[in-house]
Amino acid sequence: MKISINQMFRSIKTWGFGATTMLFLAGTFNANAQGEALFKAKCATCHQPHKNGTGPKLFEVRKKWDAGGAKAGSIIQWVNNWQAAAAADPYAQTVSTWAPSAMNVFPELKEAEIVSILDYVDAQADPAAAVAGAPGAEGAVVGEELEEEGSSTWIWVMLGLIFAIIIAAVSGVRRQLKSALNESDDSDNSRSYFEEFKEWHWKNKKPLGVVFVATAIALIVTGFQGLGNIGVVEAYQPSQPIAFPHDIHTGVNGIDCKYCHNSVTKSKSAGLPTVNVCMNCHKQVNGRTPAQQEQIAKLYTAAGWSTEGSGSYTGKSMPIKWNKVHVLPDHVYFNHSQHVVVGQVDCKQCHGDMTKQKETARVVPVSDLNKIEGNIALTKPTLTMGWCIECHAEKEIAAGPLDTKKDGYYDEIHRRLMNNDKKLYSSYLEDGKVTVKELGGWECAKCHY
Ligand code: HEC
Ligand code: HEC
Ligand code: HEC
Ligand code: HEC
Ligand code: HEC
Ligand code: HEC
Repeated sequence: MKISINQMFRSIKTWGFGATTMLFLAGTFNANAQGEALFKAKCATCHQPHKNGTGPKLFEVRKKWDAGGAKAGSIIQWVNNWQAAAAADPYAQTVSTWAPSAMNVFPELKEAEIVSILDYVDAQADPAAAVAGAPGAEGAVVGEELEEEGSSTWIWVMLGLIFAIIIAAVSGVRRQLKSALNESDDSDNSRSYFEEFKEWHWKNKKPLGVVFVATAIALIVTGFQGLGNIGVVEAYQPSQPIAFPHDIHTGVNGIDCKYCHNSVTKSKSAGLPTVNVCMNCHKQVNGRTPAQQEQIAKLYTAAGWSTEGSGSYTGKSMPIKWNKVHVLPDHVYFNHSQHVVVGQVDCKQCHGDMTKQKETARVVPVSDLNKIEGNIALTKPTLTMGWCIECHAEKEIAAGPLDTKKDGYYDEIHRRLMNNDKKLYSSYLEDGKVTVKELGGWECAKCHY
């Protein structure tokens, strides 16, 4: 089949147009998402678009500054460092007296980033206007839901466009095929397609044979690899009854993992905290934003805590049913204290950096685990047998001086191995490394009941 240069050019044009549109859309989408992410991460604790809180509402604040006679660019400087702005611009000086509390400084934010934040804020509909006549906390919550819908329609529009482009492209190809067929029909229609195919097949039997064998081998290999991955879902993240964020608790507020997972150094399982552990703090902490209050209210329902007056227990409690995130099959034995205490393996090595986990917990794919500083790099999917034994083959019993527990236990093992049967053990002791594998970490019965 022949495609004329002209046709080719036309299809390149179509694709080029499609790609440019996509890039453009992705760009706008990105800027929006960047503004939203930055606002939520850095500003939302004090500011809301339409309501004064710790800081004033930020909706169309640039217009307000322009109208008030602020110097150009002064508002950007304000966000970077409000003291500097207040010193340089009389208008900013008046703003700084708004509240007795002061704003944070954000020297790390670039101008474009600040603009994206303010653009995001200006794009937020006023919840009070959206639910007319329903002011207060309830109205704010409903407004937030409306907002969410707004951003998801974006995704539908994008998907629709992608489909339209694909359909256009496919129909283009079909047209080309049709015209090519018409051409060949003219040239020869005495033989059937089957005969033609047989002849073509016969002429090309060697390369075809190679292709056939290669495909078969590839299928078998992927089949076997697939078997090892049955039941493995990388990045598994079940939904949870309460949107509990690890970053706020362990990162920002610096709570130790063991405060909540208190059996991790003592037993096989790490354990999950009871409602009472949460209530140690949450009797006082009830959240600042509506979204936080909504989640913490669920905690109160579970604990049977009434916020009326100075707060009291109603006696009607129910357990929080957390969904299990990491699950090993029943035939596998895994012990936390063995790894965390004896093996001195950091939680990060297997669970990723939970102090940065904004949403509920998930199984972190091995590619992400490898990016974390201090982790040894592994290749097999997290939680598979390959993952366990690969680490056991790599990981030394104790890095550097053989004895992390400082009780001489491993030094004694080391000494005995060297003295008893040098020939047998020298193969792995000559490099000075004793890995978990060499102490029996590859024995089936260590991990299988
Ligand atoms: C710790 C609380 C806090 C955080 C976090 C915070 N601000 Fe502020 N912001 C304030 C306060 C308080 C004021 C009022 C000025 C004053 O009293 O010092 C203010 C004022 C402002 C103003 C001027 C408002 C007006 O009405 O003129 C802008 C603009 C602003 N902040 C932007 C931001 C941006 C953008 C972020 C995030 C990058 C941010 N703020 C993060 C507390 C905060
Ligand atoms: C304030 C209490 C608290 C602290 C502190 C805490 N966690 Fe958690 N953790 C939880 C709760 C509640 C869950 C269940 C909700 C979920 O899965 O997100 C959980 C779930 C987990 C899970 C997934 C459990 C599963 O089902 O497989 C891991 C892994 C985890 N935490 C690790 C850590 C690490 C590592 C730290 C320290 C950096 C830590 N946690 C600190 C409360 C806490
Ligand atoms: C060597 C890898 C490894 C290390 C290190 C590790 N974990 Fe785990 N963790 C696992 C595995 C595997 C499971 C799944 C266990 C199961 O299903 O039996 C798990 C499960 C969990 C769970 C779910 C509840 C449970 O006990 O099954 C929590 C919570 C948890 N880990 C927290 C921690 C904390 C906190 C640390 C650090 C102090 C830590 N883990 C260190 C591998 C590890
Ligand atoms: C050591 C104190 C402490 C403990 C224990 C604690 N929290 Fe919190 N929690 C906080 C603080 C502080 C905040 C931040 C509130 C804020 O920003 O105003 C918070 C925020 C939250 C939020 C709102 C987060 C958001 O941004 O949406 C939820 C939900 C939450 N905690 C659930 C829990 C649960 C469930 C437990 C028990 C497993 C728990 N907390 C245990 C101190 C604690
Ligand atoms: C990041 C590395 C790492 C991963 C991943 C890991 N382990 Fe281990 N494991 C260790 C270390 C280190 C020790 C050695 C503890 C010691 O010093 O005796 C160990 C020891 C063990 C032991 C005791 C071995 C013995 O000789 O007594 C068992 C059983 C075990 N691990 C099971 C597992 C299972 C099951 C998994 C997978 C779900 C797993 N491990 C994943 C590092 C790891
Ligand atoms: C370090 C721990 C460890 C050792 C040692 C180990 N296994 Fe496993 N094995 C596992 C884990 C974890 C799984 C579950 C993997 C999964 O769910 O995908 C597993 C799964 C299996 C399965 C089920 C098939 C599959 O992929 O899920 C078989 C069969 C098996 N192991 C056989 C063995 C044999 C035979 C040995 C000894 C040569 C051995 N294992 C040694 C940890 C280990």
